[in-house]
Order: sequence, then C-alpha cells, then structure tokens
Amino acid sequence: MADEIAPEYDVIVLGTGLTECILSGVLSVKGKKVLHLDRASYYGGDAASVNLETLFKKYGNYAKGTSPWEQYGRLNDWNIDLVPKFLMSSGELTNILVSTDVTRYLEFKQVAGSYVQQGSGSKATVAKVPSDAAEALRSPLMGLFEKRRMKNFIEWVGQFDPKDSTTHKGLNMSTCTMKEVYDKFGLEVTTKDFIGHAMALYQTDSYFDAPGGAPEAIERIRLYGNSVARYGKSPYIYPLYGLGELPQGFARLSAIYGGTYMLNTNVDEVIYEGGKAVGIKATMGGIEPEMKFETRAKMILGDPSYFPDKVKVTGHVLRAICILKHPLAQTNDSDSCQLIIPQSQVGRKNDIYIACVSSAHNVCPKGYWIAIVSTIAETSANHHLELAPGLERLGKIEEQFMGPPIPLYEPIEDGTKDNIFISKSYDASSHFESTTDDVRDIYRRATGEELVVEGLRDGIQVAEE
Ligand SMILES: *[C@@H]1O[C@H](CO)[C@@H](O)[C@H](O)[C@H]1NC(C)=O
Ligand SMILES: *[C@@H]1O[C@H](CO)[C@@H](O)[C@H](O)[C@H]1NC(C)=O
Repeated sequence: MADEIAPEYDVIVLGTGLTECILSGVLSVKGKKVLHLDRASYYGGDAASVNLETLFKKYGNYAKGTSPWEQYGRLNDWNIDLVPKFLMSSGELTNILVSTDVTRYLEFKQVAGSYVQQGSGSKATVAKVPSDAAEALRSPLMGLFEKRRMKNFIEWVGQFDPKDSTTHKGLNMSTCTMKEVYDKFGLEVTTKDFIGHAMALYQTDSYFDAPGGAPEAIERIRLYGNSVARYGKSPYIYPLYGLGELPQGFARLSAIYGGTYMLNTNVDEVIYEGGKAVGIKATMGGIEPEMKFETRAKMILGDPSYFPDKVKVTGHVLRAICILKHPLAQTNDSDSCQLIIPQSQVGRKNDIYIACVSSAHNVCPKGYWIAIVSTIAETSANHHLELAPGLERLGKIEEQFMGPPIPLYEPIEDGTKDNIFISKSYDASSHFESTTDDVRDIYRRATGEELVVEGLRDGIQVAEE
C-alpha cells in the first residue's frame, strides 16, 4: 500500500462528499495528480445514501433490543439519501456528468413531477409548476386573466436574448430588477412567488430587488423550461439507487485518470510552510497495522468537517426523513416529485422543500415512498413546528427521522492565503443548483480559472418508464 502514495500531488482532497468528488473527478480529467482521502469507511460524507437499519441507528429512535427495520422488507432494497437532491436535466451538474463521462457508471430516471403549493393549511392547493404557455393556460394556480399574463411572460422569456435589446421590452437590463420585469407584465404576487421559488429556484426573496438582477433570474427560468422540455415530466432527473451513486461514479472516474483514493484515513496534521499548506500527515486505518504517511501537495481541498477552525456557521438546516406507504396527495400519484412551498405562502422567510422518491428509482421496496422535508431554521426552538407545513402534506407517516438542526458551514476565507479551499455544507434545497455554484466557486478560487465544461447536446440517457 505504502508504495502507492507518492511524495507529492497537485491536489489533496479531504472528504468524499459530492462537492469534493466532482472536484477531484474534474481535476483528474484535466490532468492533475489527485490524492483523495476520507476518514469514514464509505463514500459520500454527509451526503451518503444509507439503508433503513443504518438510518434507525443513526437517529436512535427505537427501543433497545427491537429491530423495527425488519418489518420493511429487505434492507438492501433501501437507499435513503441523508441529503436529498435532484439534478436539473439541463443544469450544470448534468453538464459536468456528461462532459466527464461519469454517466457511464450511473443510470438516471426522470423525476415524475415538479409541484408548488399555494396557500396554506386545509386551503392549500398543490399544482404542477407550469413550464410553458400551454401549461400556464391550464394551471389552477392562476385566474383567467392572470393565466394570459403568465402566458405572455413565459413566451417572452423564451425569446429573451440578453445581448439583443429589442427583446428587452424597453427595460435597461444592466440596471433592471426582476420586480420591474414582473410589473411590466402585471403579474400578481402569488404568480411571482411560484416563478421565483419553484422555477428560478431562489430560496429567499432577496433576488427581487437586486439592481441588474433581471437577466440572471430570466436565465434561471429558461433553464427550468429547457430542462422540462428535455424529458417532458419535470425538469429533474435522479440516479437509480440514490445519490450515493454519484460520489462513487466520480471516484471511479478519478481512479481511471490516475487519482488515488483512500478511505478510513485520518488527517493527523496539515503541514504549513510560510503560512501556506504544503502537505499532510495522515494515518490509514482499516488495515493491520495501521499505516502512517506524509505527503505534499500544491493545494488542499476539503469539506468543512476537516477544518473546524477555518469555517463559520451561517445557519441551520432542519430535515425530516419520512417513510410513507402512499404518494404525496395532489401529485397525480407521482412515483417521485419535488414540492416547493414558497416561504411567503406559509408566513416564513425560507422555502420548505419536499423531495419524494420511491421504488421507481430503486431506493426502497415497492409500496413505499421516501419523503424528505427540509428548510432553514428561523427559530432556536419549535423546529418541528417550522417543518409542519411540509409534514402536513405527507398524510400518514410510517416512520419519521429528525435529528437536531444541522449547522451550515462556509469557509471564513477564500483559501488563496493558505492554499486550503473549503466547500460549503449542503443547503436545504432539494436540487443541486447551489452545490454546483460552490463547485465552480472552489474551482475558480483554487485554480484561478473558470471551470469550463463542454456544452451538452444530447443530455443524459434516462431509463425507460
Ligand atoms: C443602462 O444603464 C446604464 C447604467 O445606468 C447606462 O450606462 C446605460 O447607458 C443605460 N442604457 C440605456 C440603453 O439606456
Ligand atoms: C398524470 O399521470 C398520467 C400517467 O403518468 C399522465 O398521463 C398524465 O398526463 C398526468 N396528469 C397530469 C395533470 O400531470
């Protein structure tokens, strides 16, 4: 084993969460020599997929001496994401998967629906997010006249070209806010709400008044529409057997390009010279005797758990993993879906997300659904109450796993001073758009270049229904 560790690498990556695995995969493909370590014995870090027994044991919500997981079929049929997220079928992560050819290790399937809630409590309506003019005209989310305004808006978004001012409706795009655009079309508050939160996927309303923010918002709405157009049912795709497959796919990719992977390996010390990280001392366990080694690198990438004194807490995620025996109500019996409850519909500042998957994606036995409800905490107590508008949507819950609030970390510094580039924690959203923003950001900080991935023409082949 020892002779496999080189005296020097271009990059050492700590942690096998998705962000780290994408980066080590991409860097390997681009010719960098990568050493990738994880202290755990499995891939995925905080974003691993686990079976039901592991989940019960992690949350400890069962009586000693009992084995409640035994009533739920074969353990190996369960692949439950600790952090559930869907991929936009025309989004950045899909681009990275296709352009690096990781897709050869993974199989994807459409997510059957993308829904949004309007109103709250017993008066709530759950409806498909309309993605084109025809759907806008059929949508129960809007009245007769508003449907027409939405149709005009969606058609305009389709024609919008940031470089062609004749498509700008007389608005100055270098200063224009999204609010001005909505006002131009006379859209109602509830319509702006589902456009901003369920199509553009903003997590708060701060995008609304950002000067010059309109083109980005419009681009995000276009991405949503283009992603739906790709496979038809929703903009989202999801891997068979769960998200845990993704880091492993990238790990295989990195290995093909000469990357070295080591699980069960503790970092004992980061070596600094002149304030800059230049290497690590580490111990590989899981073998007898354990192996100590030292190696150098031009830079170190890692998740926040490896650098507790270089990160700060920016908030907390609340997340409840629930096992159901039925699909979500008002979702056309979807085998899988995302439901977004925009914050203002339920008197909050942060959206509530529900990601629901089932045996259609081989993550549980037939007859079960896994629904994961998440949001950002806004209080220091009553966390269950904060998730309640989401939990209410689930109907009868067979099992519910909810731990304490999960801290969201982000690096204090950008890493250029000490050569340590740290990722952010996974947020509350049930899609990957913010994770890929972080990948791009780390890549830019670490290499001084933009991450360029080849545009994709054909997208990912999805499994047949
Ligand atoms: C748009 O606004 C910018 C910044 O105020 C200004 O420099 C530019 O001339 C404006 N463009 C048009 C076409 O009015
Ligand atoms: C409901 O699901 C069926 C079967 O998948 C599909 O044909 C139909 O278009 C869906 N209806 C709506 C309103 O999405």
